[in-house]
Amino acid sequence: MLNNMRILLIISGGIAAYKSLELIRGLRRRGAQVRPILTKGGAQFVTPLSVATLAQHKVYDDLFYLTDESEIGHIRLARETDLVVVAPATADILAKMANGIADDLATTALLATDRPILIAPAMNSRMWANTATKRNLALLQANGVMTVGPAHGELAEGEIGIGRMAEPVDILASIEAALGGPLSGIRALVTSGPTHEPIDPVRYIANRSSGKQGHAIAGACARLGAAVTLVSGPSSEIDPPGVEMVHVETARDMMEACLKALPVDVAICAAAVSDWRPAEAGTQKIKKDKRSSSTAPNLALVENSDILATLAGRENDRPRLVIGFAAETDDVLAYASAKLVSKGCDWILANDVSPDTGTFGGDDNKVHLISRSEAEPMAGPNIEEWPEFSKVEVAARLAERIAQSLGSAA
Ligand SMILES: Cc1cc2nc3c(=O)[nH]c(=O)nc-3n(C[C@H](O)[C@H](O)[C@H](O)COP(=O)(O)O)c2cc1C
Repeated sequence: MLNNMRILLIISGGIAAYKSLELIRGLRRRGAQVRPILTKGGAQFVTPLSVATLAQHKVYDDLFYLTDESEIGHIRLARETDLVVVAPATADILAKMANGIADDLATTALLATDRPILIAPAMNSRMWANTATKRNLALLQANGVMTVGPAHGELAEGEIGIGRMAEPVDILASIEAALGGPLSGIRALVTSGPTHEPIDPVRYIANRSSGKQGHAIAGACARLGAAVTLVSGPSSEIDPPGVEMVHVETARDMMEACLKALPVDVAICAAAVSDWRPAEAGTQKIKKDKRSSSTAPNLALVENSDILATLAGRENDRPRLVIGFAAETDDVLAYASAKLVSKGCDWILANDVSPDTGTFGGDDNKVHLISRSEAEPMAGPNIEEWPEFSKVEVAARLAERIAQSLGSAA
């Protein structure tokens, strides 16, 4: 919730301005007060009347009109707010912000404010890729300006590429995170996806994990304000907004990246890490020997180190909460309860990944949350059944449980 939070919302002249109307609704529904500024360009795309009606507040658009004593004035407008949001942020306004140009009300307020600023860039992918835009963005980020998006997808001109403004729901999440969600101040490490274990330069051992669940968890934790490092094996999922991504390939790379991310408050190991890897990966492609009838090579495997058990067993920098996943195809609860003990973690999310469940690669997940019974350690673990949820809902619920748990332990 954003009860009574004051948001100065600057709408600049991009085609995505229509989505800012939805953003205003979302802000109002969460209890925020919205003061809108519309640039001249912005007013070409949405009308002051629509913006004012949804914001339930007058729209500011003229720097010199605000000189009247009865008016708030640009300096007060810039400072009497909790957060300044620029959505959409055009290439033009980014350039002006980066260079301290103040030639209209929006840019003057941006230069005058001492409040945090969040921008949601939106533009054609070539404008986004332009060196000038990249340089401006880097300057702004170095100055502490927060960004959300842009996303990859269909652009106004019918092209596909990066440059779409982040969806209003993602901008709202970034606003909540910037203003202090229940996980703000918490560092989270999330692993996601499969690992690829090379046999030779072209072949590898992998599994069916898609990364959907892990990526959703990383996004959900970030939305509640956590500083998230997401270590992901090869996955076609899009990087969630607002998380620090580390892309890896093998279990050994993943272990290294996880240890590098420590210390963290919570570790959520959702990746399906390969238990084994070929003892030796060929440096050249292994050739098929056509002369002999028994051509299949003998693949000797060695065990990979266990990331979950390693994190749970750290002496000096063990995360306060270590959460694992147990993907099983039979006797799910028994295996998962045994895993809780053998890995030394605090919670296990157990899920049935039998082929007929469609969990691997699918959008839904039916999980049980298994946790140690703190009150009666001898009584066996607590098992809590969750209804079948989408992976996004599982992630949101888990992030809230983590916030409760870390909050009550603080
Ligand atoms: C139809 C149309 C769509 C546009 N869409 C974008 C856009 O998505 N992003 C962007 O950076 N500029 C876009 N522009 C260009 C800006 O409107 C232009 O740079 C303008 O000067 C921005 O002014 P402002 O940043 O003060 O609002 C668009 C222009 C037109 C005519």
